[in-house]
Formats: sequence, C-alpha cells, structure tokens
Amino acid sequence: MIIFALDSSCDETAVAVVRNGREVLSSELYSQADIHALYGGVVPEIASRNHVARIVRLSDLALKNAGLTKHDIDAVAVTYTPGLIGALLVGVNFAKGLSLSLDVPLIPVHHIKGHIAANYIAYPDLKPPFLCVVVSGGNSLIADVRGYTDICVVGRSRDDAAGECFDKVARVLGLGYPGGPALDNASRSGNDSLYNLPCPVIAGSPYDMSFSGLKTSVINLIHNANQKNETLDIASMAASLARTVSEILVPRAIVAASEFGYDKIVVAGGVAANSRIRADFVKAASDNDMELFIPPLYLCGDNAAMIGCQGFYEYAAGKKASVTLDAKATTDIENDLTVI
Ligand code: KG4
Repeated sequence: MIIFALDSSCDETAVAVVRNGREVLSSELYSQADIHALYGGVVPEIASRNHVARIVRLSDLALKNAGLTKHDIDAVAVTYTPGLIGALLVGVNFAKGLSLSLDVPLIPVHHIKGHIAANYIAYPDLKPPFLCVVVSGGNSLIADVRGYTDICVVGRSRDDAAGECFDKVARVLGLGYPGGPALDNASRSGNDSLYNLPCPVIAGSPYDMSFSGLKTSVINLIHNANQKNETLDIASMAASLARTVSEILVPRAIVAASEFGYDKIVVAGGVAANSRIRADFVKAASDNDMELFIPPLYLCGDNAAMIGCQGFYEYAAGKKASVTLDAKATTDIENDLTVI
C-alpha cells in the first residue's frame, strides 16, 4: 500500500511516500527555521504562509524521488492535530483535495503517534507493546504503547514541554532558534554540575513532569548574572540544563517500564536528538537490562515519513476521515478518534 503523507504542524513542511508502513520511498522536508530565527521563535502566520508556498512543489518532489506518479497513491495520510492551527490547516486541506481528486482514503494522524512511529521506520523489527517517552517542542509525555493505535498516556508535563525549556533558555542566552541543538553543542565543553537546577517531583503522580520552573530558574540565573555584571559559564549552564532534563526523563521511564512489565523503552521527538539525554538513556537501559530504541537524528524531529508509517497502522485499524476533517490545535492521544 502506497501512502502519501503530509505534516505541516509547525515550521517544517514535510511530505513523504511510504510503502506498507515502514518502507520510506521518499521523505522531503522544507525547514523554515532560518525565517523564524529572525524573530526568536515560530511566528504562526508566517509558518502557514510558507507551508502554502512550498507544499505543492514539495509534493511533486516527493513523488518524483519515489519514482511514482499521483496515480500510484493508495491513500493520503495527514497530521490533523496537535500543532499550530493555521499551519495544520494547510496540510489538512491539501490532503483533502488530493484524496478527493484521486478518490483514495484520507487518513488523519495524531502528530505524537507519528513521532512514536518514527521508531518503526528506524527499527524494522520493533513492535508494540513497549514504554515510550515522547519529548518534543510542544509535548513531553510517557506512554504505555499497548498496540500501534492503542496508546495510553501515563505521565505528561503539567506545563511546558522539554523542547520549550531548551528553546526559551537558548533565546535568552542569544543562541538563536531552535535552541535545543545550539545548547546541545554548547554543553559539550561544560561542567554539568556547576549549576544546581530544580528537578521537580509531582506528589501522587510519579510519571508527571514539569519544565516550567526549570526554565524560569535558568532564565533568572542568567538575568541575575547580567544585572551583577557577572560572567556566565554558558557551556556549564547548557550542560547542567541537559543533565537536569535527563534526570527528569530517564528515571521515570525506567520505573514506568518496570511497573508496566516492559523490557523495551522507546524514545521519540525532537529532544531525543539531545546527546546527553541519548547517552543517559543508553546507560540506564543497559544498567536495567532493557532494550532501548531511539531514532537516528533525522527521524527525531518532524518529518512526514513517520506520519505515513502511523497512517498505515491507523488505516489497518479502520481509521479514515471524511471531507469534513478539521484540524485541531490540541488533542490528547486518548481523544484521537477512531473514525472522523
Ligand atoms: O519534534 P520536534 O521537531 O517538533 C515538535 O513536534 O515539537 O521538536 C522540536 C524541538 C525543539 O524544541 C528543539 O529545540 C528540540 O526539539 N531539539 C533539541 C535538540 N534538537 C532539537 N533539544 C535538545 N537537544 C537537541 N539536540
């Protein structure tokens, strides 16, 4: 089955052609990061307009690089939630038009489920069930992945996502947008215990997380140093931040995996590209005799191949949308409807 997949949930226009769920025939990406860097973060309307400007040419390119024509498409999968509403609407409406004109099914895909599915592409033998940690720019959660479409969130950030914490700290430090990769690079020469940062625990909810206090605490340290004319050790600040985020994520994942009886941990989302977090997961999994799956860097961030992959499993589970499909800025995985 050939699935033509689209993702326009934030500032990347992504189109892919995926065969039978896991074979990526092409995956094209247009990142608007340089444009939004001028403003220190994503400007929603600019993101929408750039999706409109790019989506047709990128679709042609994806088909060309897959060696196919539009008549080979068996279904169209698209991210319909969560994300920036104007940006999502571009992909959703393009997908609707394509599915209508080709008379093929339209498959709505939840973006977070797509991030999890990136691992099915990277690891052809990986199958649910497993424990999954998703850490991206907009979401941070721990999920019991019982089946390809049966996913139960067992812990989530009560406030900011981990990626938001990296991005905002980087902005205050003047490291540009997106901040995660810049902080990761800066952290390599730093001392990770120079700054003692808060690592919150939420009473009664062992798998819930909070990154907002951590973000504010780092930003306050930076402002205080600036006011006192003190020099900040940016590399050590970046290393201490990465260590703290890792200390929030990794132990929760190990304990949750044990509680749910899994010996497989999967990590997904843009923040899974972080070198410290990756290294800590590798060590913790090995220390606890667990198998670890983290996508290669090109599959951590937003892409449409992961949407095509998850779309395949959603379609197999009977999910498809009518032409009334609407985009939604936020939808919990539990509320991702079976038929729309
Ligand atoms: O998954 P993603 O591409 O978009 C969403 O679905 O949100 O994640 C983007 C986030 C941004 O916050 C970015 O700064 C962060 O992932 N990120 C990183 C790294 N690479 C990307 N954060 C920390 N370290 C990195 N190496």
